[in-house]
This record gives sequence, C-alpha cells and structure tokens, in this order.
Amino acid sequence: MTVHEIDRLCHRVSHDPAFLASLHADPAGVLAGLPLSAGERRDLLAGDVLALHRRGAHPVLLVRLATHRVFGLTPQLYGRRISAPGPLLEVIMTMPDVSPDRVLWRNGEFIPWHEATVHVNAIGHASVSAAFEGVHSYWSPARGQLLGFRFREHMKRLHDSLRLSRLVPAFDPDELVEAAAELLTRVSEPGKDVYVRPWGFAAGLHREQMVAAGAPAEIVIDSWDFTSKLGQGRTCTLAVSSWPRTNHSASPATMKVFSNYHNGRLGNAEARQRGADWPVFINDRGEVTESSGACLAMVRDGVLCFPDLASGVLDSVTRDTMRVLAAEAGIPVQIRRIERTELYLADEVMLLGTAAEVLPATEIDGFPIGSGKQGPVAQELETRYHDLVRGAVTTHEQWLTPVKA
Ligand SMILES: Cc1ncc(COP(=O)(O)O)c(C=O)c1O
Repeated sequence: MTVHEIDRLCHRVSHDPAFLASLHADPAGVLAGLPLSAGERRDLLAGDVLALHRRGAHPVLLVRLATHRVFGLTPQLYGRRISAPGPLLEVIMTMPDVSPDRVLWRNGEFIPWHEATVHVNAIGHASVSAAFEGVHSYWSPARGQLLGFRFREHMKRLHDSLRLSRLVPAFDPDELVEAAAELLTRVSEPGKDVYVRPWGFAAGLHREQMVAAGAPAEIVIDSWDFTSKLGQGRTCTLAVSSWPRTNHSASPATMKVFSNYHNGRLGNAEARQRGADWPVFINDRGEVTESSGACLAMVRDGVLCFPDLASGVLDSVTRDTMRVLAAEAGIPVQIRRIERTELYLADEVMLLGTAAEVLPATEIDGFPIGSGKQGPVAQELETRYHDLVRGAVTTHEQWLTPVKA
C-alpha cells in the first residue's frame, strides 16, 4: 500500500523547499523516482485530488498540493475537484456556481450576490465552528527585541480547540508558532507591544451550522498593537453574574471557541449595568468559575487558590504561568473547587489572563476585598510577570519566542 507515499509527498511539499522546486521543474521525473503505482503517478500528474482521496490520501494533506500549486492545481481547482461529483466533505470550497444576476438583501439594499463579501476577520465571529486565541508579545527594553509570550502553548490550545470541534487544521502548533513569529517580523515596530490573534474556522462556504466532522480548518493569524497595563496599579470591581456559566459538559469551557463567548457577553453586559467592571460566573453546582475573558484567583490565609478545570474553566496559560511564579515566590498554591461565599471573605481576588494581565479586584457584589488597593500577592505576581514577559529575567526562556527585527 503506497497511500502513505502520497501523504508523505504532500507533507514534503510544504516542508522541503528543494523538493518543491524539483516538483515544479520536473513533476514526472520526481514521481518516477518515488515508490508509487502507475495509477497513483497518473492521478498525481493530472492533479486529480478526488481520485487520490479515494485511494486513501488525506484531503488535508492533499490541499497542500493546491496551496503550493503543484501538478497544475490551484485552491479553486482543488475545491472544484474534491467536491465533485458528490459533496465529499459537505463543504463548498469555492464560490458556488451562482448566476451573476443574482442579488441578496444586505443592510437595506439589494446588492449583487458576488459582492456581498466580508473581511476574512469577520467570518469566524459569525460562525459556530471557529476557535481562537489571544496571545501577547512584549517589547523587551533589556534585549531590544520583541518577545512572543508562550506562543507554543497558545498554538497548541488552538489546535486542540479545533480538533475537539472536529475540524482538521493543516498546520501543526510549531508551524503556527513560526508563522506568528514571521508575521511579527513584518508588522511590529521597535518599542511596541503586539497582540496576536490566531483563529481557525471551517474552510469553504458553509450554508448551515452543522459543519461536517473532518472539514478542513482555515487558519488566520492577525495582529494589532496594544498597550500593556502592567505596573500601573490598576484595580477593578466584580459582580457575580445572574447568568450561570454555560454547563461544562454541554459546551466545554476548555474549548476556546467563539460560540462559548455568548455566555460571557450576557454576564458582561449585566455587570456593567450593575456598575461593576467584570462578571464572575458561577456554575450550576454553585462553584466559582471565571470571568468573561480572564481566569480568576483568590487568596485566603496566604494561599493562592484557582478553580479546578472540572469547575468549567478555560485551561488558562496565564494561570499556569502564575502557578509557577507563585511557587518561585514561596506562595502556596491550591487548585480546587471554590464556593461563592469564599470570594466575599477572601483577602485578595484577582483576574488573570493574557488580556487582563494581573487585575486585582477591590469589591465584589458590594463586599470590599482587602484594602481597596493591589494586595501583596497580586503585587508580587505582577512584578514577576512583568519581568518575565519583558525579558528582564532569563528564568523561563522556553516561554519566550524572540522575534527577529
Ligand atoms: C473565558 C476566559 N477564561 C480565561 C482566560 C485566560 O486565558 P489565558 O491566560 O490563556 O489568556 C481567557 C482569556 O482569553 C478567557 O477568555
């Protein structure tokens, strides 16, 4: 069985530039040197991706032939061939065959169907089959360089969220780390911090939400400048949301998918209406979970406590960082179930996350917390986090991705 040879060839196309160049120069000659059957060589040279798929080749690897324009393929041709004659993946990979005269209604106007486009950044937000990440890169004055923070862990989580959504990403986490670092070399400016937004969604045009399992995922990495608030002594107020956290066993919080954020929006709007900055969600067992875009920690009797994953929280990268930094500072850490009333009695409560960084709370549901300023544990963690992400210390180099100027 040589189907593995076809898959291996597709893999080499995107990883071995010399091999790709030789395939472009002499496709038949290269195939003649590989252990393939005559039929497989014929289908490859014809760019017949449907026949190759029927031989057992993986469509997500085959798509690389189109991306790199091998055997006369283009992404459009790939889409047309892979989905003909039957909807193999129940996905339309290209614009469907719609008459140029057809119109649709948009914002009070009838406009040509083909012109009713959205920017690629808008698709996932309107889709139930999209996952995303929020990642920071910090300018390091000490090193004169931008440093990506925990890129590998974020890209792995994106990959996992897509896999749990049964979408198939064509790039592995290491390739995504490389892509993000390369993007930053192109868009970043000396002295500026950059937010990185990788996200993935079912490729192609879908006409219903029940996107078939196994559909390939398209991945986009966007970025924009942000201003870190570390070291400014910020605080916030919290309100327990009357909307419970979405049931973890119905839509797991460990999947960072856009559709999970509707619950966050409801709690967020309510908190603002009640005059607080951020919501805290309780699960249906009455346990504390997290906020709408950050995880939560509390300090009781000198112990830094986080809700456990079974409470229904995102497996936060910042939480993991803080767990390590706290241990290094000699602060005991517990990961356990937290009751709502414990928050009201806590010495410190803080939100932690890529975007929130370290954000201590001074009040929750009208109960004052601590002295109304940053507590000592939050202060210690913030200082250590600041030094780490800005490259002032070299204790966790494996978490930093230096970005070439
Ligand atoms: C719901 C939720 N919980 C927790 C977090 C914190 O996760 P991380 O530390 O990986 O940024 C986020 C951040 O995006 C979030 O949206």
